[in-house]
Amino acid sequence: MVKRINNFVKIDTKNTTLLLRIDSIPEIVHYGKKLSDADDYPFWEYGKNYTMVSSASDYCGRKCILSFSGDANNRETMLHAVSFDGNGSLRLRLKEVKVGMNKPILNGMPSSYDCEDTVIFVYEDVAFSMIVEQYFSTFTDSDVIATGIRVKNVGTQEFYLRRAFSMQLDFDNGDYSATAFVGNWMRERKMKKTDISVGCTTFSSFLGHSSNVVNPFVLCTKKGKKGFSIASNLVYSGNHKELFDCSVHHGLRVATGINDFMLNYKIAPNASFDTPEAVFTYGDTEENVCFTMRSFTQEHILRKDWVQKPRAIAINTWETFLFQFDKAKLLELCDTAKRIGIELFVLDDGWFGHRDDDTTSLGDWFANEKKLGCTIEDLAKEIHAHGLQFGIWIEPEMISEDSELYKTHPDWAMTIEGVTPLYVRNQLVLDITKKEVRDYLVKQISQVIEESQTDYIKWDCNRGISELKNSGVLFHDYVLAVYDLFDRLTKKYPNVLFESCASGGNRFDLGMLCYTPQIWTSDCTDARSRVFIQEGTIKGYPLSTVSAHVAYSPSHHTFNKTSLQDRFAVAIQGVLGYELNLTALPQSELDEISLQTSFYKKWRNTLQFGDFYEGDGSSDDKFISWSVVSKDKASAVTTGVCLQQDYGVKLPKIRVSGIDENATYKVNVIRKLTDVPESFTAKGDLLVNGGVYLGDLYDMKTLNENSNSIASVLITMERINA
Ligand code: DGJ
Repeated sequence: MVKRINNFVKIDTKNTTLLLRIDSIPEIVHYGKKLSDADDYPFWEYGKNYTMVSSASDYCGRKCILSFSGDANNRETMLHAVSFDGNGSLRLRLKEVKVGMNKPILNGMPSSYDCEDTVIFVYEDVAFSMIVEQYFSTFTDSDVIATGIRVKNVGTQEFYLRRAFSMQLDFDNGDYSATAFVGNWMRERKMKKTDISVGCTTFSSFLGHSSNVVNPFVLCTKKGKKGFSIASNLVYSGNHKELFDCSVHHGLRVATGINDFMLNYKIAPNASFDTPEAVFTYGDTEENVCFTMRSFTQEHILRKDWVQKPRAIAINTWETFLFQFDKAKLLELCDTAKRIGIELFVLDDGWFGHRDDDTTSLGDWFANEKKLGCTIEDLAKEIHAHGLQFGIWIEPEMISEDSELYKTHPDWAMTIEGVTPLYVRNQLVLDITKKEVRDYLVKQISQVIEESQTDYIKWDCNRGISELKNSGVLFHDYVLAVYDLFDRLTKKYPNVLFESCASGGNRFDLGMLCYTPQIWTSDCTDARSRVFIQEGTIKGYPLSTVSAHVAYSPSHHTFNKTSLQDRFAVAIQGVLGYELNLTALPQSELDEISLQTSFYKKWRNTLQFGDFYEGDGSSDDKFISWSVVSKDKASAVTTGVCLQQDYGVKLPKIRVSGIDENATYKVNVIRKLTDVPESFTAKGDLLVNGGVYLGDLYDMKTLNENSNSIASVLITMERINA
């Protein structure tokens, strides 16, 4: 809810207030716990009395929501522009405040939906003939605020944007830390906390994707007795930057937006530029702001029709067979999968063109009938006839030199004349910024979807952009092109579940989640490594978005050995699937997987759509626990995973989180689904405040082998009276 109170704008969420004093650039008077309404806030008119005014957007440490180049800001600013004749000094001044507005529909980019109220601040720069509209939107059921800016050219000459962030928040001096989720391929989103001292701490990505190097989701926490945490994220899938600029004199500035690396975006007369939407929240603890961001993503980002749609259990052919398969092998796998309760068959890489390894055929989205021994239509029909859904892998944004597409359209590959092209995984990026290329892709992908009546598409993207023709606009235009493709295809096929993937989790972000309700979290399927990867991912993103598969042991990636039970316990902290050759497993393991799929189906609603709570421990403690609780608190699953048990040292009790402390629950403690669980009833508060003993999770053999194994326990809870 947004209110104009005399010289103030009060932006209220369920539990927070962002109070802005109207000035030539609005000043942040308060951002924190909700304030009561008043007729006026005269004692907060203080900032107005400053006389040492050297700039509109920051004088003597005034806290602002906008800052710009050439405004005597001796620090990082939010907007940089250069006029056609080289002038870089903006003089934006507030012209109008519009309350009770609708949230702007962004040009070519997705954004959050179902907002409650919006305020728009309109600024003008006369010399530049520039108008900037900055919006803040609230949501009835959430503490998140969405924001962004639109920069308009209302003059007769072009200007160039060199930086256009989406959000700026300034805070008082203090002792802050910034938390980012960093990594690389196979080691995505490890939580890293950095103390922010004087100077600027930035996190950014550079190759055209939100990246596995650093995610756009960040936290900022102030040390001290009174809890203060901020979380922010960007609804964007390209290069991004998060900036924490701190000076003793000015306090802390937090900003996020498109990375300005190489940005030089021409804004012609009458044209405008929208920044991606930033979303942020305040809370008293990191855990609370993470909880808020997950719920917000679930309720205001994910495609509406997918929010509560149960996700099928998949068998995926990638780790199972890599490129070596034919119809007989696939149908045998499908047959076994069906018998043990799997619901979706995903044909991964290698089904098209003449692709038997990663050197050919990207761009040729028609079946390799010689290899398959049938058409894609026939294969899909047989899978459907087995009672499984059918899914298929594509990598539309890429092209192989050895492909029919390259023969016909070599000019569609992103290369620069005279510059030796860089090949990554033997492939080039397709220039999807060309409309004709996108039209071709929509046609080809539509054909694949229609021929196979596919239920699911895995959309992969295995390299970044290195051929920087039109460098000033390329990165952003590329993201707009990706969104155009997703927009057209998801609207055309609303019942197809799109799962995005970029060498695993190289594009795990809110932009993708607006189109693809789940994302392949990481190419690393080792359960031990997945604990670290999923621990970080789940901080900012809901479980229903986190695709997680049970694969081989020893792991093909790390060689760690883990039991089928432990691999399952980790994979159910997400959307469960399998990537292993079921046809080669002994009957005992198939029976165990049958128990796993039945268990998952029984608890699926809770596990995919329940509220996620962090529990005792963290991967750094070598022991971690999580609870997922249904919205009505009638059922819950708590998982404990031990990453190392020292000889003779007892494991801690696991305390359950989020359940109804006054209700009584039937509890099952499951160490192995094939064994009879330990069962008892207990009152919620005993489980929440007391906890459950784990005993020795590791058997002596595993302990002695020191095999980098893990040991897990599942605790299920069903409410028997309230
Ligand atoms: C990378 C993905 O992350 C894998 O899951 C798999 O689909 C391969 N690409 C296929 O090339």
